[in-house]
Formats: sequence, structure tokens, C-alpha cells
Amino acid sequence: MITFGNNLFHLKTKDTSYVIGIFEGKLLNLYWGKAIKCVPDLEDMLAVDYTRTFSSTDIMWNGKKMSTNDLTMEYSEYGRGDFRTPAFYGVDGEFTTASDLKFDSYEIIDGKYKVEGMPSVYAEEGDKVSTLKIHLLDVYSGLKVTLLYGVYEDFNVITRAVIFENTADKPYRLNKALSMTVDFDSKEFDFIHLSGVWARERKPQRTYVKSGTMQVESIRGTSSHIHNPFIALVSPETNEEYGEAYGFNLVYSGNFVAGVQKEDYDITRAFMGINPIGFSWILEKGETFSTPEAVLVYSNNGLGEMSRKFHKLYRTRLCIGVYRDIKRPVLINNWEATYFDFNEEKILDITKSAAELGVELMVLDDGWFGKRDQEDCSLGDWTPDTRKLPNGVKGLAEKVNNEGLKFGLWFEPEMVSPDSNLYREHPDWCLHQGGRDRTLGRSQLVLDLSRPEVCDYVKGFMSEILSTVNISYIKWDMNRYITEFGSPAFSGEKQGEIAHRYMLGLYDIMEYLTANFPHVLFEGCSGGGGRFDPGILYYMPQIWTSDDSDGLERIDIQYGTSLCYPYSAMGAHVSAVPNHQVFRTTPIKFRGDVAICGQLGYELNLGILSDKEKEAVKEQIKTYHKLADVFHNGDLYRIITPENSDVAVNQFISEDENTVIVCVYVMRGRPNNAYKYAKLKNLDLSAVYVDENGKEYSGEFLSRFGIKIHPDRDYASKIIVLKKK
Ligand code: GLA
Repeated sequence: MITFGNNLFHLKTKDTSYVIGIFEGKLLNLYWGKAIKCVPDLEDMLAVDYTRTFSSTDIMWNGKKMSTNDLTMEYSEYGRGDFRTPAFYGVDGEFTTASDLKFDSYEIIDGKYKVEGMPSVYAEEGDKVSTLKIHLLDVYSGLKVTLLYGVYEDFNVITRAVIFENTADKPYRLNKALSMTVDFDSKEFDFIHLSGVWARERKPQRTYVKSGTMQVESIRGTSSHIHNPFIALVSPETNEEYGEAYGFNLVYSGNFVAGVQKEDYDITRAFMGINPIGFSWILEKGETFSTPEAVLVYSNNGLGEMSRKFHKLYRTRLCIGVYRDIKRPVLINNWEATYFDFNEEKILDITKSAAELGVELMVLDDGWFGKRDQEDCSLGDWTPDTRKLPNGVKGLAEKVNNEGLKFGLWFEPEMVSPDSNLYREHPDWCLHQGGRDRTLGRSQLVLDLSRPEVCDYVKGFMSEILSTVNISYIKWDMNRYITEFGSPAFSGEKQGEIAHRYMLGLYDIMEYLTANFPHVLFEGCSGGGGRFDPGILYYMPQIWTSDDSDGLERIDIQYGTSLCYPYSAMGAHVSAVPNHQVFRTTPIKFRGDVAICGQLGYELNLGILSDKEKEAVKEQIKTYHKLADVFHNGDLYRIITPENSDVAVNQFISEDENTVIVCVYVMRGRPNNAYKYAKLKNLDLSAVYVDENGKEYSGEFLSRFGIKIHPDRDYASKIIVLKKK
């Protein structure tokens, strides 16, 4: 619910309040936290009511000199009194940069706003969701800035985005346009973010916020392996279960910045949006620019509750399409089994042995097109290589279907190899900057998706194959970072728009394909988990979490990912041992018990496993079918996190709270090790829970005493299923 009175906007979700005030025409951020019922007085909430030493006077109030620099601003401007990092800045028709944003008007609307040309979370019939639009006007330039807020009452989430409109006759060049800033007065914070690298994505990092700026960012053209567009500000004492946590996530898959700035008088500013490096956008009279959406979550019960709020929203109001709600097929992928060295016979052998064990979908990975025997050619030439597939992919798909499996195919639609017919025909269709070198990544260039004709070409070849071959699944890969953001299709002054225009082109293609081929399940991928963000998740309900599927490594990767993203979003495969990335050998049970919580798949030749291992795989798939609903639609409690621990334990509770699954992983056994106790969360203390052997435990016992674990053996794992009696 959104109310307005006494110059205060009160954005109320079930358990939280977010209060914005209008003060001398300026918008102030006054409160965000646990729900407040009283009607506060704006003046009582001001961070300061006089000019502090050395502050510039840009507000006068009751004859008092004041400065926006000393206040908690809602969306800060550049060039006047506020010296902190601005939410936006630009150059107007007079070539001046200072702006003075003043409140103009507001609208409160039922339902959720949309972000033009970009994915955003949505509302469904019956949801208590409302939109607040606050219109601000820069009195100097005529730039209209509309702040959008989506208030999800039951989900306890607030979303934000911004629209800029040039109402003046002269052009306005935006140089920075963040999706949000939030100022906190006198709070101590730790800054949490997810960092990594290829095959080791999203490791949580936690640092005390001192004076100055800390930020994570990408100028790689993807959200990237290195940093994720998720950050959290938490009280220094916050842990999984206790304490305040503010989570922020950007629904965007390209260049971003997200960070925290602590400046004068301990006011802390969180900020998030498109990375201003390399960015500019020219608005002619009447033109608008929309920022991507930021999702904001407050939790008073630690990181666990923060994650659960993100998970629930993303599971049910972010992913589009039928696969959001239905159980997705268990797949076999040939990549680590064959790499480029395969033919129809090998693929059918892999398919047959997978079929015997209960696998439902065969995915043919890279190497099926052009003359792609290695990674340096053929991207763009999406015609089947008949040396490997004499009957084409159509023929193979039919044979796979005859074995009772669905058929899926790998694509890297955004790319072109210099050694390809496509590049020879259209050398100007890749992103590049004039006659300068075209920097290669994995021997390939990136198609210029800022150009509609290039997007049409991608839509064309994808539609052609999807309409002629019985394809149920696409693995959409993106295997390099982007350099030389430039396009000959735009004038020199518009080159700062190309990185964002690329994203708009990409989303337009995904919009088209998901709308026209609704039965196809899309899985996002970018050298493993290099583009694991809500922008992709909107179109593709699952993303390949990492190219590292070693059981042990995956515990860390999936843990970090779960801070913001649900297990239903994580592609998780059992692969061969010794593992191809770290050469570690772990039991098939351990690998299976780690993968089973995500979207389960296999990435090895199941045909060469021992009979005992084959039995284990059969069992895993059966168990997966029984439990997937709880893993994917239930609530996650991280009981023991893998950081600095020999053991990791996750607990999932089904939506109806009748099934509890406890996943126990011993990462490192030690002789005579101390016991660990996994004290379960959110159980019914007075209920009895029965395990699969019929043994009964009281909810109280499981919560207070817990499940006893003896970490004395490497890679021991257990999936314990408890049913409420
Ligand atoms: C990326 C993916 C892998 C595989 C290869 C194929 O690295 O993450 O899973 O598809 O590309 O080239």
C-alpha cells in the first residue's frame, strides 16, 4: 500500500516501511526498515536541520541555511550542494551540468509498472502490488525525472526504476543514470557482494564499510563471473538468522555498478545501475530513457530471510513462460563426454545409456554446425555439419525422440567467428570501432545487436531451426566479454549508447523467441555462470551455474549463488571423475546429492559407468522426481554454511510445510572430528516428523538439539527427508 500525507510518501509492505519526504521541493529518503504504523513528522526525521561546517547552501528552510550534502537524499543530483556520488548527471543544451531536481507531482496506481524494452518483475491477478510515480523536474534544463516504485505487499519487496524525459527544445546528454540510490543515516554496515572468476563464481565477500566508496562493477558487456549485480548492506552482527540485511539486485545483464559510499557525518549511500563508464545517451526533445529495474529487499531476520524473499519473488514473479511452474526434464549433456569430437553414433550411444537410467532430455552441445572441430571457427554458420551428423540435427533429433528423450541444442547466437561465412559476408555486423583492431575473445567477435537488421538475422536463424526441428530446449551460451563497444550504424555522438543498445537488442531477441516458441525451455549460460542475473532469468528460468561441476566446488558456488537466486534457477550437473576442472575424485552419491537441489542434469558418458554407479544414477533421478518440488518451490534455510567449515547443511521446507529435506555434506573428514549439530529451522515445535526409515523425531528435538553429524569421512553426504506426521 502507498499513502501520501504531511509531505510523506509511505510505501508499506506487510512487514516493512519505506518513507520518502518532500522537503523544500527536494525528495528525501527518510526511513526504510521494519513496518512503522505511526504517522511520523518529516522535521523529526531530518538527518540535520542546520548547515554543517563547510557545507554549501542549496536549501533554505525557515531562514536556516541547509545543504543536500547533509541530508539523506532519495535520488541525488550533481553540481550543487551534494558532493557525494550522484544518482544521475548529464549535459544540457546550454552545455552546463548542474541540476536542481524539484518535486512536481505524483501518481499512485494499482498494479506494477513495466520497464520499457527490458525485463522486470511483474504482478499477477490478485497480487497486492501498487506503483508510485514521483515526477521531478530539473528547473535548469527541463529534464523530467520520474522515479518508479513497485510495492509488493505480500512479497515484502520494493522495486525501483527511473525514466528520464527531455522536455526542452535542445538535446540533453545523460552521462550517468542509476536505477536507485538509498541513503542511510548513521548506520554501521558490512558490505556483502558476490565475486569470482570463470569456474569459481559468486563467492560471498564481506567487508566493514569505512569512510569512502566500495563498489563492484562490470564493463565486460555481461554481468560477468567477476562480480554479480547483487549487493547487501548488513549490520556488522548480522548472520544467517539474526540482524538487519538490505539486499539490492539489478535486473540487468550488461555493464553495471553497485556499491556503497560513506561520507560526511556517517551517512551511507547505496547505489546501483548501469555503469557510467563508457555510457552516454542523447535525448532529443520528447525522448525518454528508462533505467533497468533494481529489486530491494529488507530483512530483520538475517541473510536467510533476505534470500528467501528474493527467491520467492524470482520463482514466481520474475521468470516468464510455462517452465516457471512445471518440473523441468532431467538432462544429459555431451560436452564433457565428447567436447568437439562426436558423431551421430556416439551421441546416440550416450542417449541410449541415459535413457536406460531415466534421463529425459538429450542436449547436443557445441560443435554440431559449420566445420567446428575446435573453438576458433564457424560461429554464425548455423548449418549442421554433415560430416558429424549425416542426417542433420533434424535426423538426430528424430532418433533421440525415438529413444524416448526430448532433444535440446546448444547455440551461441550473439557471436561470429572471423572464420565463418557470416563474417565474410558481413564484416561490419560485429561490434567494432572504425578501423581499430577488433579484439578477439575465445577467437570470436560479438554481433552488433544495437542494429535491428542483425537482431532480425538472429531471430531468423533461430526461428528457422526451431520451426523445422523438434527442439524442446536451447542452451543459450555467450562465451566472451565484450570489447570495442561501437557501431557504424550510429553517429559518433551516439557511440556511448551502444553497450546499452546491445542489451536492448538482446532482450528484444529473447522476447521474440520466448513468445514465438513458448514450448522451448531456455537455459542461460556464459562460460558457465558469467551471466547469472535476473535479466536473463526473466526469459530463461534456469542458468548454467558454473563450468565447474566438481561436487566440492559446487557446494561453494551454489551457496554464494543462493544468497540472491533460488535453487530452481541453478543448472546443476553430475560430471565425470576425476573432475575436468580440478581433477578431484568424489563419489557419485556426493556429486548427485549436491546437484539434486538444482535443475538436475548429467554431463558424462553414463554408458561407461560401473553397474553400481548406474544404479546410483537411477536412484538419484527417482529421488529427484520425488523431491524437486520442495527444492525448487520450498523455502531454503542455510543451516551450516560452507565458509570455514568441514560440513555444509541446507534445509528446504515445502510450501505446505509438511516436508522437510536436510542436505548434509561433509566437505572434509578428519579423524576423531568433533560432532556437528544441524539445528533445523522453522519447524512446528509441537509436531512429530518421520524420516524415511519410519523413525520419529519431535519438531522440538530437531530444532533444539538438531541432527548429529560426524564429519570423519571425506565427501560423505546425506539427503534426509522428514514428513510431518
Ligand atoms: C561454455 C559453456 C560450456 C560449453 C562450452 C562449449 O564454456 O559454459 O558448458 O557449452 O561453452 O563451447
